[in-house]
Amino acid sequence: MQYVKHLVPLQQFDKFVDRLRQEGYKGVNVTVPFKTQAQAYATHSTNRVLEAGAANTLKFESHEVWADNTDGWGLCRDIVNNAQVAIQGKSILLVGAGGAARGVLVPLLEHQPKHLVLANRTHSKAMDMVQQMGLSNQVEVVDFEHWPNSRFDLIINATSAGLEGQLLNPPRQLFDQAELAYDMVYGATDTPFMAWAKQCGCLQTRDGLGMLVEQAAKAFEWWRGVMPQTTPVLHALRAQMATKETR
Ligand code: ATR
Repeated sequence: MQYVKHLVPLQQFDKFVDRLRQEGYKGVNVTVPFKTQAQAYATHSTNRVLEAGAANTLKFESHEVWADNTDGWGLCRDIVNNAQVAIQGKSILLVGAGGAARGVLVPLLEHQPKHLVLANRTHSKAMDMVQQMGLSNQVEVVDFEHWPNSRFDLIINATSAGLEGQLLNPPRQLFDQAELAYDMVYGATDTPFMAWAKQCGCLQTRDGLGMLVEQAAKAFEWWRGVMPQTTPVLHALRAQMATKETR
């Protein structure tokens, strides 16, 4: 069994996946910028893909291609099982309204938080997303000029600000005694968002490595019918990243 990574030329997603199918691959995980194309490539999509408008997993079965999206499942699993923070009954602030936020919105709501606020730099983009998804009555939308005055239990960064080397520093009061600040990106050390959350009094911070592992485990289960144990994988990856950092 092999699980390897391929860098796919921008214009060649379909051709590339055609080739993998011919070579006998059972499926693929897909990441940015191909998640929308992955959905379009598939002949069938799960509800999770239809809700998110993007796929991160494809499964090949003779002439059929199934698409799933395990990102939201991975995030919730990492928060609830690995960070041991319940989502149910909590107040949640999700920052960002791009593909990453879109993929996790419904899975987060399925855990029945008390309140979910979506904050985005561009208000109209967040409004459009929430309306398109039919979630206007479950999600409150704000922009960065109008942050809520209250604190939150769980604050999730789903923006690409950090990837672009820009800081995202929401107001201090939001983090006061927050149970968890979660950054969907990951690295060998704390991301700037995690460092800011700690400075502001957040009790626990976490990067997206666990989400990466959990979404992959869910995909593996779909392909192979076996759910792998994720804790040893997460520890091994973390150790590997720390070693690279100190070299
Ligand atoms: P992806 O699909 O990877 O999520 P995207 O669709 O480009 O990427 O969305 C990026 C998200 O990060 C958006 O919510 C974007 O905010 P805007 O909708 O206002 O563009 C957010 N983002 C990117 N850079 C940011 C920054 N410097 N500060 C705050 N938000 C930022």
